[in-house]
Amino acid sequence: MERIKQAIEKVKQNKKTVSSSGVKGNGPAVNKSGSGLGEFSYVNTKTVELDGKLLEQNRIIVYNQQDIKSTIFDILRTKIISKMQQNGWKTIAVTSPTQGCGKTVISVNLAISMARYNDFSVMLADFDLKKPEVAKNLGLTVDHSIMDYFNGQVELEEMLVNPGIPRLVVLPNNKAYKDSSTLMSSNKMKGFVEDVKDRYASRIVIFDLPPLLATDDALAFLPNVDCVLLVVGNGMCSKSEIEESMRLLSSKNFLGTVLNKSDDEWRGYA
Ligand SMILES: Nc1ncnc2c1ncn2[C@@H]1O[C@H](COP(=O)(O)OP(=O)(O)OP(=O)(O)O)[C@@H](O)[C@H]1O
Ligand SMILES: [Mg+2]
Repeated sequence: MERIKQAIEKVKQNKKTVSSSGVKGNGPAVNKSGSGLGEFSYVNTKTVELDGKLLEQNRIIVYNQQDIKSTIFDILRTKIISKMQQNGWKTIAVTSPTQGCGKTVISVNLAISMARYNDFSVMLADFDLKKPEVAKNLGLTVDHSIMDYFNGQVELEEMLVNPGIPRLVVLPNNKAYKDSSTLMSSNKMKGFVEDVKDRYASRIVIFDLPPLLATDDALAFLPNVDCVLLVVGNGMCSKSEIEESMRLLSSKNFLGTVLNKSDDEWRGYA
């Protein structure tokens, strides 16, 4: 554990770091935010109501705005948005050195928190084509796969889901693909990313990706996005895995590192 902490310290010194402490997902109250959908109309988008209890179990803590720990994600969100605005960035890739660090949980919490921030319209895309889990975390039933869309069998509008949160749409996936890096590096994919990010002036698109060191999907996809967030699971990656990941990301616009599953308790304020 000490070794990892030292490695993270080194990462922090080398790069400007956006950090978040442990997210342990408690808080029983359910926030029913089923009000209007802000300035955007989702007439063609399926709207579903989320199950607060399930979200709590899945550590999607920001859904319950009464949960004091949701502040952790609000701080992270505001730091990220500020850096993105300064640089004119609109698309974020979320990845990690190895599997299970908490990319999907962080992506979903961040997307909800961002959608609640002023006028941003947020799309959360499940682009971990090897292990799609965004829908599972949100409790969504998914009718189509991302590949159905890229094969022209379904329109994007039929794929998108509004989870009852204003200004948030989710692009879920219900099927894993073996040969996903071919799609991730394709011109079709490049065009898709350009298209979704330019649909609205104040849109942010978050792509939940696979780990950097476990497949080539993330590396193949990264040229398409404006910036990258690295999630490190406390005690889950070796020093050399973190260093290798930082080396692979050295030519990218780096938002920072989230240290997830930290032992530190969130103390809150007031
Ligand atoms: N802060 C946390 N504290 C405790 N458990 C967590 C935390 N964040 C995530 N988890 C749990 O760790 C597991 C992995 O999380 P998640 O699926 O988000 O990781 P991932 O990086 O997306 O994994 P994969 O590489 O398999 O896609 C899940 O069971 C999740 O609930
Ligand atoms: Mg995941």
